[in-house]
Amino acid sequence: MRNMTSEEFKQLSQNSIVLADDEYGKKVLELTDHSIIKLFRVKRLISQATIYSPARRFAKNAKKLIQLNIPTVSLIDLYNISSIKRTAVHYHQLEGVTVREYLQSKPIEDEFLFKLGEFLALLHAKGIFFRSAHFGNIIVTPEKQFGLIDISDMTISRFSLGYIKRIRNLKHIFRIKEDLLLLGDSLIIEQSYVKHCSISNKLFIDKFLKTAGNLRQLKGRF
Ligand SMILES: Nc1ncnc2c1ncn2[C@@H]1O[C@H](COP(=O)(O)OP(=O)(O)O)[C@@H](O)[C@H]1O
Ligand SMILES: [Mg+2]
Repeated sequence: MRNMTSEEFKQLSQNSIVLADDEYGKKVLELTDHSIIKLFRVKRLISQATIYSPARRFAKNAKKLIQLNIPTVSLIDLYNISSIKRTAVHYHQLEGVTVREYLQSKPIEDEFLFKLGEFLALLHAKGIFFRSAHFGNIIVTPEKQFGLIDISDMTISRFSLGYIKRIRNLKHIFRIKEDLLLLGDSLIIEQSYVKHCSISNKLFIDKFLKTAGNLRQLKGRF
């Protein structure tokens, strides 16, 4: 992780576009060369910031995902900008649009949802537990492949996920009302997941489908 002064950071981020911000300020910047800088607030002792930072976890996860053949961003560098109490990841964009943007841009396509269900099953088969797995953090590339961004919060184990983790992750995936509304009445994502997850345990499948149904009802009502 490279130490960066606020002057250097100012220079690097000159004329950048803010892609995301929150009450603490700018969070994600697109630089003039189209690369992206994502900033993380340092919440612990400055001296520990570079060791335990989400920026470091982001970088580690990017490396592992690439090894596992899951498209993601390609890392340029990691920065510690202590003057503004931030660490940062700098990366090349994963070309494409988010699944949310894709679904918003056209009528529901069964084939797309089928592929998305298959992709989610693939992540779980590869041991990837992605806590931020909503539709705003999954990218559809121009080649119609799926990939992941916003990857700080993830655990990757050497074994495929067990039943409990799969269902817990489904709750992350179906967390946002706006995403669920984009699916209309289609149950293709969960049906495709079940078809591709290579689990024949009926109790699991029933529980998975029931949880998906409950989440949709719950989110649809408010
Ligand atoms: N690698 C990328 N490729 C394309 N768009 C990106 C990429 N990284 C971030 N973005 C855009 O910036 C937005 C916010 O980035 P993200 O890392 O998801 O931050 P947040 O913590 O705000 O969710 C994304 O929803 C997406 O629109
Ligand atoms: Mg995000």
